[in-house]
Amino acid sequence: MPENSAMAAFVAELPKVELHVHLVGSASPATVARLARRHPGSGVPTDLTELREFFTFRDFDHFLTVYWAVQSLITTSADIHDLVVGLAADLSAQRCRYAEVTVTPYNHVLDGLSGDALLEGLASGRNAAATEHGVDLAWCFDIPGEKGTTAGRETLIFALRNRPDGLVSFGLGGPEIGVGRALFEPFFTAAREAGLHSVPHAGETSGPATVWSAIHDLGAERIGHGTSSAADPALLAYLAEHRIPLEVCPTSNVRTRQVESVAAHPVRRLLDHGVLVTLNTDDPPMFGATLNGEYLTVAECLGLTRTELVALAGNAVRASFLQDTRKEALLAELASVG
Ligand code: HPA
Ligand code: ZN
Repeated sequence: MPENSAMAAFVAELPKVELHVHLVGSASPATVARLARRHPGSGVPTDLTELREFFTFRDFDHFLTVYWAVQSLITTSADIHDLVVGLAADLSAQRCRYAEVTVTPYNHVLDGLSGDALLEGLASGRNAAATEHGVDLAWCFDIPGEKGTTAGRETLIFALRNRPDGLVSFGLGGPEIGVGRALFEPFFTAAREAGLHSVPHAGETSGPATVWSAIHDLGAERIGHGTSSAADPALLAYLAEHRIPLEVCPTSNVRTRQVESVAAHPVRRLLDHGVLVTLNTDDPPMFGATLNGEYLTVAECLGLTRTELVALAGNAVRASFLQDTRKEALLAELASVG
């Protein structure tokens, strides 16, 4: 077997967890096309070839515009159920055992899905994910930052009033430029006091100051992306010392044109500074990414050994919000593969 296919087989065998994937962005092209057929005039293609073109992004803002167009097609609890089960099927096929999935309730409600319908679809989808696909799902409810403090307040209220099974964390997504993390401090403080973990996006599309703000103002326990931390040696040291994991999504960063290529991605520098790096997909079909693919491409670009890949998979287990007994079981399983 050529070395890269032997490595691909090894990656496929590894039990994995995914810590940064958006529910809307996990919709398969077939699902997006089907939703688009139900909403003529939405501007989202109904044809798979055209969809591939539609999912070619000029920059991060263009990506967000496309993402929001897809999001607007989701209008029923059955849509949410289907997305959740579709994601679980994709994860299960890659030996991914557990995922923390980002959901943006405020945007769904603005797009005409009721809060109750969202919760119903999440609950039934999560049950089916476990029973039909053997994948455990947890939720991160995140604030769409571009909609400001109203979205912050409403997301907090929705999360704490409903507190669905599996809700583990509170996030912040959307653009970073012009959307300071500190604006959302009161909502993160309240969410943390209520026992939710803090996992804002930061340092994906802006510099290290945003990551510092996520840590100091929002009490970030993990950072969504955090890529630009690589430019700040003091921040690298802080992340390593305090063991604040980064949810690194290399292909996403290439496809939204934040970095030139996976080879040019600062993931090597992050690892060299002892940062707890985890590998994730973000919005897999939109970026042509898979979880196995992220491990493989990083292994190839960085010349990682199998032992180093097992360590990366272990980082994600340690950085997850799973219970300790479950973490230990997954780590033991990983040790037996490695
Ligand atoms: N960053 C911010 N917001 C998002 C992303 C992302 O990578 N994906 C979907 N919404
Ligand atoms: Zn993201």
